[in-house]
Amino acid sequence: MIESLARPLVLVEGKGGVGKTTCAAALGLALARRGARILVVELVQKGHVAALFGRAPSTRAPVEVAPGLYTQVFAPEACLEEYALLKLHFRAAYKLIFQNAAVRALTRLVPALDELLVIGKLEHAVRTGGWDHVVVDAPVTGEGILLFLLPRVITEAVAGGPLHDDAARIRALLEDSSRTVMHLVTLAEELPAEETEELHRAMREQVGVPLGALLVDRLFPPRLDARQIELLGDLAPSDPALADARAVLRFMDARRAHQEKYLARLAQRVPLKRVELEEVFDAPDEAGVVSTLATRLGAAPAS
Ligand SMILES: Nc1ncnc2c1ncn2[C@@H]1O[C@H](COP(=O)(O)OP(=O)(O)O)[C@@H](O)[C@H]1O
Ligand SMILES: [Mg+2]
Repeated sequence: MIESLARPLVLVEGKGGVGKTTCAAALGLALARRGARILVVELVQKGHVAALFGRAPSTRAPVEVAPGLYTQVFAPEACLEEYALLKLHFRAAYKLIFQNAAVRALTRLVPALDELLVIGKLEHAVRTGGWDHVVVDAPVTGEGILLFLLPRVITEAVAGGPLHDDAARIRALLEDSSRTVMHLVTLAEELPAEETEELHRAMREQVGVPLGALLVDRLFPPRLDARQIELLGDLAPSDPALADARAVLRFMDARRAHQEKYLARLAQRVPLKRVELEEVFDAPDEAGVVSTLATRLGAAPAS
């Protein structure tokens, strides 16, 4: 299963708070455990992935957080410097030009320059970084749509020249289903499910990035069956400990029933392969959640 979710560029997209960073890190870890060399890139929340593994984040260089698993924050400032150095070749020239206040103010004024630099660096990392897979914790819904739409807008708006060529190369990568896949992360709840339907439509109709799976995170365990319900009913109501346990199980069953309503709706409205990820109840911390999900992703049969 994990291999079917992987391409050289794996984009993990979704509404904030649905488990996007956790899923990106778990996908990366599952692939790294199979011996691949993985870079998990953060474009939004600066440094959450490094922090998950107890490391300080970096915008300058990849930080190894587990064997074969590296992470880096792609921040516009650092991308600008790197891009300029790539083109200008001399740090002295870079300093002269880009540390000049007027030039800095000017680069802030160029619309979408930050986005273009960041996505350009992403393309560069995929092409030349020596990674088996670059996994991206992508910006939340609206910003993500703009970011991935940008190369298409630029190639259509700018007739030729270096800007057009850069954008065209990025666009070619983003639209190539043998090199790129975007997974959508959601929860089986009303608002995330609605937003995921919109996100799916926008990505398919406007952006044109190849879509992979719908990762439905934080599901409660499957519904209780008739026999289990009967057994629960028989639990001595006189024993308060058992009554509490029964209440917990009934609560979880009710939550799962609620989630199944949205699972069914998502199955109808978001026609992607679904990967169901259950809530991890027994992890000591967030890193433990990532590790458990990576194990489950690695163990699941191909489908
Ligand atoms: N399957 C899961 N089981 C338990 N906790 C989870 C699971 N998925 C995510 N979480 C927790 O939910 C919280 C939000 O996840 P995070 O990945 O940071 O969301 P996002 O990046 O979408 O904002 C974190 O505390 C994370 O550990
Ligand atoms: Mg996050």
